[in-house]
Amino acid sequence: MPENKYKCKFRGEVCRGHREMRNGYRAMTLWFCGLSGAGKSTIAHAVEKRLFDEGARTYTFDGDNVRHGLCGDLSFSPEGRAENIRRISEMTKLFMDAGTICLCAFITPEHNSQQRLRGMHEDGDFFLVHVDCPVEVCEERDVKGYYKLAREGKIKNYTGISAPFDTPESPDLRLDTTSCNIDECVDQVFAFLKEKISLLDVK
Ligand SMILES: Nc1ncnc2c1ncn2[C@@H]1O[C@H](COP(=O)(O)OP(=O)(O)O)[C@@H](O)[C@H]1O
Ligand SMILES: [Mg+2]
Repeated sequence: MPENKYKCKFRGEVCRGHREMRNGYRAMTLWFCGLSGAGKSTIAHAVEKRLFDEGARTYTFDGDNVRHGLCGDLSFSPEGRAENIRRISEMTKLFMDAGTICLCAFITPEHNSQQRLRGMHEDGDFFLVHVDCPVEVCEERDVKGYYKLAREGKIKNYTGISAPFDTPESPDLRLDTTSCNIDECVDQVFAFLKEKISLLDVK
């Protein structure tokens, strides 16, 4: 653990480095982006379950637990979406300071936001995972029935139908949820964690 990890950024005797040392692994954020229905929530929760079972402190941020509260005042306009992402990101930074592994499941449709997220984090803190699935398959899955409403024009600005999704240019990991099942995708996330980050033994 680098020395500066023990310098508290904020007032206090206990800081992130101490908490990480006690936990036995580093805090980080895995940010799952992709179209609605691609599998972000399913995979984020499955990864969290496995991490939790291995003893890690985790938290999953998903549309439902932030859009109603913390970001309940925001619209789905480009400005509203950008502010949504900014607030969540500031929140995950505090959670990382608390030593938590954050799993985030948000469409994050714009290159701007995807890049800004990277810029807001220090190296090794943030990993962008593109949950990749063609819009035709997402529409067929139509988990929430929103694609149908978007096609009928009853929902405006729906990503993939009436609003763009910018395919991430250089995600840290890409999961193809048409050719891999849920377990295989979770395995790929764990392989990535073990290889890239030397996630200290989470036991
Ligand atoms: N490999 C896969 N990974 C994740 N979800 C998958 C996969 N294959 C099929 N699915 C299904 O696709 C749907 C994805 O829904 P959800 O996770 O809510 O998407 P999102 O959060 O991206 O909007 C679920 O019904 C899930 O069972
Ligand atoms: Mg979801």
